[in-house]
Amino acid sequence: MTDAHLIAADEVIRRCRLLSEYTEEPGWITRTFLSSPMHDVHALVRQWMHDAGLSVGIDAAGNIRGVSEAHGPRLLIASHLDTVPHAGAFDGILGVMCGIELAQQSPDAAIEVMGFSEEEGVRYGVPFIGSRAITGTLDVDLIERISPAIQAFGLDPSQLPSAMIANSIAAYLEIHIEQGPVLDELDLPLGIVAAIAGQSRFIVRFQGRANHAGTTPMPLRYDALAGAAEWISLVERDALGKNGLVATVGSISIEPNASNVIPGLAVATLDVRHADDGFRRDAAASLLNAAKQIALHRGLELHIETRLEQEATPMDPLLVSELDSAAKAVGLKAYRMISGAGHDAMIAARRWPSAMLFVRSPGGISHHPDETVLRDDVASALAVGMKFVKRWCHA
Ligand code: HGY
Ligand code: MN
Ligand code: MN
Repeated sequence: MTDAHLIAADEVIRRCRLLSEYTEEPGWITRTFLSSPMHDVHALVRQWMHDAGLSVGIDAAGNIRGVSEAHGPRLLIASHLDTVPHAGAFDGILGVMCGIELAQQSPDAAIEVMGFSEEEGVRYGVPFIGSRAITGTLDVDLIERISPAIQAFGLDPSQLPSAMIANSIAAYLEIHIEQGPVLDELDLPLGIVAAIAGQSRFIVRFQGRANHAGTTPMPLRYDALAGAAEWISLVERDALGKNGLVATVGSISIEPNASNVIPGLAVATLDVRHADDGFRRDAAASLLNAAKQIALHRGLELHIETRLEQEATPMDPLLVSELDSAAKAVGLKAYRMISGAGHDAMIAARRWPSAMLFVRSPGGISHHPDETVLRDDVASALAVGMKFVKRWCHA
């Protein structure tokens, strides 16, 4: 790693922090699919891509794309520009800023840098909208649901088919923070993703009956929130007993949501992940079955909607070893690991050989304002990325 890498890392970090100021929630970093702050983000990213010698466009899904003029097997370097609510400054954004830097440093390499409009799945409960648009894997009902947001942003949803990239991409690279504690505990700057854990996401609705909190005796209640609460503590207990499984109820809404009314409706999300797809599916099925038993016992109605079934995704072995060699060539050890977090690389890997380079998350914190990176680690990622680009584009 050289001073040039450190200076480039400073600029990458500066840009991530600058973009974090564009938010739907003053005082927090919250930027969901095609919300208005994304216009400001696009204006800055467009300028930086242009300064890096890329020709810039925005597709009908709101992905911002910078393409170099160089010819040859094109390397797509991408990540996402949307965030979860109350996010940190680096989840997704770091990978786009590193991509622009790598393109700037390798003008003779055929590179496309992309900032996906949506990966987290916050606004519509379905993730990976941007990467699914470029791989042509958006389903019709999702297109119908997201079209008004696309129009409101000033784009034309009828053009979504043209967002799909034909076969001009030879490989996909995503640089991303690890978002967990592994590299920090090993005191290593970088990780190479061998595979990304699969994930299932559901909406679970407990329908009871609202009633007066003061006059309704306990045995006569159909309390939706009490039913959901019994189930949520079972979700945690069950996952604690299953090695490698994570299960999360990340959000719950209730109606009518008043202190003196028995909740009639509780709508909870369920997120289940594991490196093995069969194990994940069985675990999810048993958690949903537990919800059914609880609802039955309490006289509640239950409605389950599946929002995502994403298979575990191995990264391309050739690219993984190329990243390994690039790390060794700059004197660094990059730790091979599984990603518990989902990434656009899962979607890209359906179409192109794909790889991910992880950057240490100090304290293992992510999806939180305290999410951060270390300057030296970003410099290391850029050094490895540049070596990788040189080897790949001049192979
Ligand atoms: O939820 C995830 O795994 C990622 O941060 N989108
Ligand atoms: Mn995320
Ligand atoms: Mn991410």
